[in-house]
Amino acid sequence: MIFADPPYFLSNDGITCQSGRMVSVNKGEWDKAEGVKEIHSFNLDWIGECKRVLKDDGTIWISGTYHNIYSLGMALLEHEYKILNNIVWFKTNPPPNLGCRCFTHANETIIWARKHKDSKHYFNYKLMKQLNNDRQMKDVWKIGQVKKSEKKYGKHPTQKPLELLKRIVMASTEEGMVILDPFNGSGTTGIAAAELSRKYIGIDLEEEYLELTRKRYDDVKKKLRLF
Ligand SMILES: C[S@@+](CC[C@H](N)C(=O)[O-])C[C@H]1O[C@@H](n2cnc3c(N)ncnc32)[C@H](O)[C@@H]1O
Repeated sequence: MIFADPPYFLSNDGITCQSGRMVSVNKGEWDKAEGVKEIHSFNLDWIGECKRVLKDDGTIWISGTYHNIYSLGMALLEHEYKILNNIVWFKTNPPPNLGCRCFTHANETIIWARKHKDSKHYFNYKLMKQLNNDRQMKDVWKIGQVKKSEKKYGKHPTQKPLELLKRIVMASTEEGMVILDPFNGSGTTGIAAAELSRKYIGIDLEEEYLELTRKRYDDVKKKLRLF
């Protein structure tokens, strides 16, 4: 299984609201791009590489916002993946909209797709139903923002909540399966994988984020008494 949370390419010197404070939207050089063509070409490249390494019965989850999700969906179609779901992560505590000229952004999309139209993929239907009071789980997931305890070793500007990643891992893998995250960030996917006894490969451009991931992983090892 692959989970990918690629750059949104939002670092355009604008402002946003964080914990009630006005802050810059800039996240780093990795989040800068010159227009939609460059962004789409980047998305086509890495989504193609993911198809090359994904097993035939594997699936890919890609998360994004309205800024990049259309390019990501189009790139999946161009590489002939089969889209399975369009998950809406409904944020219970989104930041307010500072411009007051459109609605508050309170969701992110996560596209779930399998490698080919005809391939078989793994879905832990029973467990998802069980986690949802014995009713079929829908594609709208109400999950809060990242907890303070998940940031104790430092912050990543676009860290995902562990609860979200654990649900994804439980839904689409079994114990022992291998998970790849090509945009590791603070390593949330790896932490979910470790806590749920899956194997993990994470890639990131920034050494500092890999260091943060190592610290988070050491904590999991202590918790699970892996050393
Ligand atoms: C949106 S963040 C991922 C956050 C992650 N899901 C988490 O929970 O912490 C994207 C990450 O991709 C990394 N990145 C950007 N471009 C990359 C590239 N070309 N190859 C590998 N990593 C890259 C950035 O350094 C950043 O940490």
